[in-house]
Amino acid sequence: MTQDELKALVGQAALDYVVPGEIVGVGTGSTVNKFIDELGLIKDRIAGAVSSSEASTRLLKAQGIPVFDANQVGELAVYIDGADEIDPRGHLVKGGGAALTREKIVAAQARRFVCIADESKLVDALGQFPLPVEVIPMAAQRITRQFEKLNGLATLRLKDGKPLVTDNGQHILDVRGLLILDPLGFESEVNQWPGVVTVGVFAHQKADVCLIGTADGVRTLS
Ligand code: 5RP
Repeated sequence: MTQDELKALVGQAALDYVVPGEIVGVGTGSTVNKFIDELGLIKDRIAGAVSSSEASTRLLKAQGIPVFDANQVGELAVYIDGADEIDPRGHLVKGGGAALTREKIVAAQARRFVCIADESKLVDALGQFPLPVEVIPMAAQRITRQFEKLNGLATLRLKDGKPLVTDNGQHILDVRGLLILDPLGFESEVNQWPGVVTVGVFAHQKADVCLIGTADGVRTLS
């Protein structure tokens, strides 16, 4: 199976976790896009969605699914999202699509976080994928020096030759060379550096269930 087919497989499998009549939390990325396609097929059975990005909002609306502001609704039954890395305990690296801040907010609003990914995302320890960190632009240099002390090399993410601007109007640093053996401690530490909006380690908001697309079908890790 191709990677795209594996993403479609888990996008479909995630429907089993959608609670009828409820509002669904929806993440961002190519795997979630497959889930949104599936969600469109059962849109009459859900009350709508809370979205983690402008990109997902556009796709949800194109499917005719009502999109609510996070402040308009209470706790969500479930949040479905992809990941860039998944460790054996369900700790994640996210933010490859630059949506990490809203993703963490919607994940925190949900009772259950179901992560969907193809098996290439499984790792023994986080840090091989460049770690996305959303930052306030004026703090980027200082945060880059902070990461140097942890042997991390931070580079500003660009789009069309200019700094990428997130949905929240901020920038993204991608940090290479980290080995994150204590995801909870690492997330807590980096989160309190001035100018960090969100670090792409999801350990406090880790996945409760991971649906992994493999050549043999969907593997469920919980
Ligand atoms: C976006 C994310 C995505 O979930 C992550 O990058 C995985 O994306 P894809 O499903 O395209 O591999 O965190 O900010």
